[in-house]
Amino acid sequence: MNLFPCLALPLSLLLSVGTSSPAALSTKPAAKGTGKLQGVWVFSQAPDYPGLRGLQLQVKEGRLVGTLTTDWYGPMPMHDLTVQDGVARFGIHNGNPRVPMKTWTAQIDPDGQLHVVGDLWYEHVDLKARKGTGADASRFAFKVAPLPAWSALKPDGLAQTPPMGWSSWNKFAEKIDDATVRAIADRMVSSGLRDAGYVYVNIDDGWQGTRNANGVLQPNAHFPDMKALADYLHARGLKLGLYSSPGPKTCAGFEGSYGHVEQDARTWAAWGIDYLKYDLCSGEGHFLTEESRKAAYLAMGQALRRTGRPIVYSLCQYGRDQVGTWGREVGGHLWRTTGDITDDYKTMAEIGFDRNGRAEDAGPGGWNDPDMLEVGNGGMSLEAYRTHMSLWAISAAPLIMGHDLRSMSDGVLDLLTNLEVIAIDQDPLGRQGRRVRRLGDLEVWSRPLADGSVALAAFNRGTTSAIVDLQPQDAGLKRIDRARDPWAHQESDFRGGAITVPPHGVFLLRVNGPRAAS
Ligand code: GLA
Repeated sequence: MNLFPCLALPLSLLLSVGTSSPAALSTKPAAKGTGKLQGVWVFSQAPDYPGLRGLQLQVKEGRLVGTLTTDWYGPMPMHDLTVQDGVARFGIHNGNPRVPMKTWTAQIDPDGQLHVVGDLWYEHVDLKARKGTGADASRFAFKVAPLPAWSALKPDGLAQTPPMGWSSWNKFAEKIDDATVRAIADRMVSSGLRDAGYVYVNIDDGWQGTRNANGVLQPNAHFPDMKALADYLHARGLKLGLYSSPGPKTCAGFEGSYGHVEQDARTWAAWGIDYLKYDLCSGEGHFLTEESRKAAYLAMGQALRRTGRPIVYSLCQYGRDQVGTWGREVGGHLWRTTGDITDDYKTMAEIGFDRNGRAEDAGPGGWNDPDMLEVGNGGMSLEAYRTHMSLWAISAAPLIMGHDLRSMSDGVLDLLTNLEVIAIDQDPLGRQGRRVRRLGDLEVWSRPLADGSVALAAFNRGTTSAIVDLQPQDAGLKRIDRARDPWAHQESDFRGGAITVPPHGVFLLRVNGPRAAS
């Protein structure tokens, strides 16, 4: 289960792009009767999420100000703090600019404890805190890590085409272990998927253990020896990817890299990793400005470069802050453009058609990432999975599979290993395709390719068959002299005209090319 509340929100909330500007601290005058509330308060029995440790209220420059300290987000300032009849009321910002600030209350109960009630993401907090001391405050104090000054990284030559591979998350979530990863890797080789181009084997959330006395992050018991696993993959022509967060916690509540950025990058490089997905998660509640979020991604980008190991850097902050405009500058080779995909046509289509990033941001070395593939997970028809693959290919999207390779059908394997469709995705020109027109449920897309040919697709988002008049102009051509059907692996006599597209289906062609003038 993903514990991170951001991801339990409706997709519509997660998908819209925005920036966060935290409200200013309260400037209201300290009310009478705040004396007893002031000081340090300690939560002794707080649930893991959000790991409430302490609360401090004090008068500064004549105003009452306060902070909640949590394991997940560090110190969270109280906004619009007022006290009336002994009850303190304040707002706590969730970090996500689209989630309204929640109102919290704190008051002293007859037993002398501070009774704190509020909401953070999906979690309702109703806890008591005992009066603490300065020593308590230093115990729960959150060590704030410095962020680098802005300085754009230069391209390093990796990811000249969109990365291809597999990730554990969509199928296994955090229930993943060394034996399963090895078995998937073996199947990647024996099924021909590796030879079709899928080389990254990415362990998503759930591999992390705890830090040792020197702060070095260890894998958990499910991954006895990460270096040995990397060696196993490398010996088979595969590469290893890992996952972390710039925040204190990952989305599933595992240890993030906060305060250990350089150290973690060195640890991973020593294990031999080739890919890192860096997921904002709890950093969302900690890095409250766009500038700090960008700097947090830059910090890891710099740290990875300093290891001297070529590591593909995958940014995952759900497409916020116009990431496509700065993703490369922090060293990113791909950046998520959306919230999470799920294994259903509606979500896949919303993401693939409407949230796949700005085409002008993508190109060799840096790609829009509309999230990993769901092909083979069973929630969609083969026709819909063919749409999923076609849409990702025309969008120059990374092809990171997300199913259990050990039990896939031949139909699923055929979809994933269609070399002509993969060639569209991996086209060396690296231009992301665009929507040419939309007519109700029908969408026409085209993508120019390096050999002068054009990938042309008509998609039907509706639930009944639809007819569309597809013309050479849709591909930016005067006429179609040659057409090839990549799914059927055969030439097509299509030269323009009406075609029928099945429900949730696609009609995909590669038209013209070096042997035919447009
Ligand atoms: C977030 C990401 C997912 C996955 C999970 C892991 O939801 O967007 O892709 O990595 O975290 O917890």
